[in-house]
Amino acid sequence: MATPLSDKIIVLGVTGSIAAYKAADICSQLTKLGAQVRVVMTESATRLIPPLTLQTLSRHPVAVSLWDEGKGWQPGHIELADEADLLLIAPATANKLAQFAHGLAPDLLTNIYLATPAPVMLAPAMNGKMLAHPATQANLQTLQQRGHRLIEPAEGLLACGYEGKGKLAPVEAIVRAVVDFFTLDSTQTR
Ligand SMILES: Cc1cc2nc3c(=O)[nH]c(=O)nc-3n(C[C@H](O)[C@H](O)[C@H](O)COP(=O)(O)O)c2cc1C
Repeated sequence: MATPLSDKIIVLGVTGSIAAYKAADICSQLTKLGAQVRVVMTESATRLIPPLTLQTLSRHPVAVSLWDEGKGWQPGHIELADEADLLLIAPATANKLAQFAHGLAPDLLTNIYLATPAPVMLAPAMNGKMLAHPATQANLQTLQQRGHRLIEPAEGLLACGYEGKGKLAPVEAIVRAVVDFFTLDSTQTR
């Protein structure tokens, strides 16, 4: 039976936020909706959630290193970049937003970002002061001007102990944004 995300390949980038554990739920829900989820984790993210969790939920190997062998003759980052229908970064750290905004490519995920023609969706998560910092705000503006979708962070009690804006958007909102993207808005390009 066709599901909303049947045959869609979603590269889910998971970065080193305390909210990285919520990527497990995002991965699970997108998979249940029929998506092929290919998880790419940063080194920092692997310190916060084990790759095995995301490998099991996505039913695919998790990519972390730029230097792992790909499936075919192409470097792994080019394969993933080429096959993605959507690059979803959830959670997105302040660091990754900065690297994306400035075109830096120190790791696998940033290389995929630069190499993919797929549309990009970003779900930031961080301490409220990091989010409010002019550098982060400028990076977010740059990324939105580039056409990327921003899934706004929520307000509430943050893991760092402060109240404010910076929590990862609810998992349901992230999954809904992806489904809406493919069902209502699939003409969107990068
Ligand atoms: C326990 C812990 C939680 C963290 N949570 C966040 C976070 O929610 N958002 C964020 O931007 N950085 C957070 N950081 C800092 C990032 O992990 C750090 O900037 C790192 O360099 C990010 O690497 P990445 O962007 O390659 O994943 C956290 C660090 C630690 C030790």
